[in-house]
Amino acid sequence: MSLLAAAGVVCGYGAADEILHGADLAVRPGELVAIIGPNGAGKSTLLKAIAGMLRLKRGTICFDGRPIERTSAGERARMGIVFVPQEANVFPTMTVSENLEMGGFLEPRQARQKIAVLSERFPVLGEKRRAAARTLSGGQRQVLAMAMALMVGPRLLLLDEPSAGLAPLAADKLFATIGAIHREGTAIAMVEQNALSALAIADRGVVLVDGRAARTGPAHAMAEDPEVRRLFLGG
Ligand SMILES: Nc1ncnc2c1ncn2[C@@H]1O[C@H](COP(=O)(O)OP(=O)(O)O)[C@@H](O)[C@H]1O
Ligand SMILES: [Mg+2]
Repeated sequence: MSLLAAAGVVCGYGAADEILHGADLAVRPGELVAIIGPNGAGKSTLLKAIAGMLRLKRGTICFDGRPIERTSAGERARMGIVFVPQEANVFPTMTVSENLEMGGFLEPRQARQKIAVLSERFPVLGEKRRAAARTLSGGQRQVLAMAMALMVGPRLLLLDEPSAGLAPLAADKLFATIGAIHREGTAIAMVEQNALSALAIADRGVVLVDGRAARTGPAHAMAEDPEVRRLFLGG
């Protein structure tokens, strides 16, 4: 059974605006799904709809077999659906420690222990714990954003272009980190421009075009698919 099953999702931003025209997305427990597709296809919109930030006009979203279309974003977070947006995903003027505490707001009593575990896992967060988040490099900031999400104990991580703006080396390191989180059993739906790198760590790929899932398949097969390569991978 799917952990997440979004089907026929129609939604947008204004009352008349339909950005998603019946989008589908399924994520199995522990699965890493890479969502690729052209700019403006609605990839970020789909993640926002799943996170509960946009009201659906039509369609269903089930988590653990329960319909959640009318569940608030906060309640979805408590259910374990944790969204890391592409931008503004840390509090820039707050320190690294304070950011992690914000990530642990759902269970403040466990925050200190969780911060200790995460600082061991990502040493840079311990080293920089008193530094303002805005002083971090792009890669460090993304690690912080990811660690804030892990503070919640996510069952489904929604990552919007985690490698955006990173130098190739920092992007490689971040993808390795995401792969490790996946191997520990967390289900992940990840939107990426960097399609080949995303497919390399994913179980399955989904191509979103014009507000619909145009195709899906095993990630390794998709990375070899001539049409996918022509459209999204530059040859
Ligand atoms: N906050 C918003 N208000 C109105 N329109 C938006 C907003 N965010 C995105 N859009 C529009 O929705 C469409 C899909 O955007 P988005 O989901 O961000 O695409 P992608 O992430 O695939 O590049 C675009 O046409 C974009 O202009
Ligand atoms: Mg986007």
